Amino acid sequence: AEPIAALTQEIAQLKEQRDAVILAHYYVPPEVQATADYVGDSFALAKLAVDLPQQTIVLCGVEFMGESAKLLNPNKTVLLPEPAADCPMAHMISKPDIDRVRAEYGDDLAVVCYVNSTAEAKTWSDVCVTSSNAVKICSNLPQRNILFIPDMNLGRYVASQLPDKHVILNKGYCPRHVTISVEQIIDLEEAHPDAVVMAHPECPADVLAEADYIGSTKGMIEHAAASDAQEFIVCTVVGIIRELELRTQGTGKRFHFPATTPRCENMDLVTLPKLAACLRNPAPYEVHVGDSLAPAARLTLERMLEYAA
Ligand code: 13P
Ligand code: SF4
Repeated sequence: AEPIAALTQEIAQLKEQRDAVILAHYYVPPEVQATADYVGDSFALAKLAVDLPQQTIVLCGVEFMGESAKLLNPNKTVLLPEPAADCPMAHMISKPDIDRVRAEYGDDLAVVCYVNSTAEAKTWSDVCVTSSNAVKICSNLPQRNILFIPDMNLGRYVASQLPDKHVILNKGYCPRHVTISVEQIIDLEEAHPDAVVMAHPECPADVLAEADYIGSTKGMIEHAAASDAQEFIVCTVVGIIRELELRTQGTGKRFHFPATTPRCENMDLVTLPKLAACLRNPAPYEVHVGDSLAPAARLTLERMLEYAA
């Protein structure tokens, strides 16, 4: 295996040559996050992709993140170091499920699509959201009825925050976050009675009921950095620990995760050697979204950026 220092140096050189910028999600391995120019949650990464001047965007994350960057930047080159890294939840919605609800509710229905979704599912939808803006965007929609796809847990959380809306749920879920159980969290609370409980809204409802703070990965990091508390129980994928520790360095703050240490296997596939490989020879790693899907899918992401502003 190539030593990390040599790979890091090669990546830095290739990045310059190709006018590339490296974006990473908080769940990818720590050495990949360390090589990135920016680390962020799904919304921050989508926004950065639009705002940055570089011609090539390397997205260290899963497929939907690369597709979103490409959809928002059709003239840029977007590379996924591991094109096979996919989010299973992205596929947990089918067209007939949407058609049925649209037929029932007519014009007073908005189909709201979590960004963790295929480009095709986005074309069936009215607007995209991420965990950091779902409540805000849904609250501002003129329609009372909302079909929330694909994640039922985020959908249920949005519903709990917006009692005036009628939110129809779909059956999708994150295979990692749903393994976090309320029993695990109660055990952690007993062991660390002063800890603040932070949870990602992809967690099941009974876990969210225990949480003092519910938000995106970035939201949880900012909450921990700003909080007066010294201990935190963190209900999400353990990859977030790198940035939690960086942002709270020197404060003595401590973080506790469920004993099953939730990992995202797909994010784990994005390694430093693959990051170097995609910069050496970009073509096989380029993200393409077909012309039959791109315009309609792009519109839902552009609406997200507009409504979240
Ligand atoms: P964030 O947008 O909060 O980073 O979440 C992305 C994700 O896939 C969570 O599982
Ligand atoms: Fe998808 Fe879950 Fe991984 Fe997030 S943690 S990318 S929702 S599988």
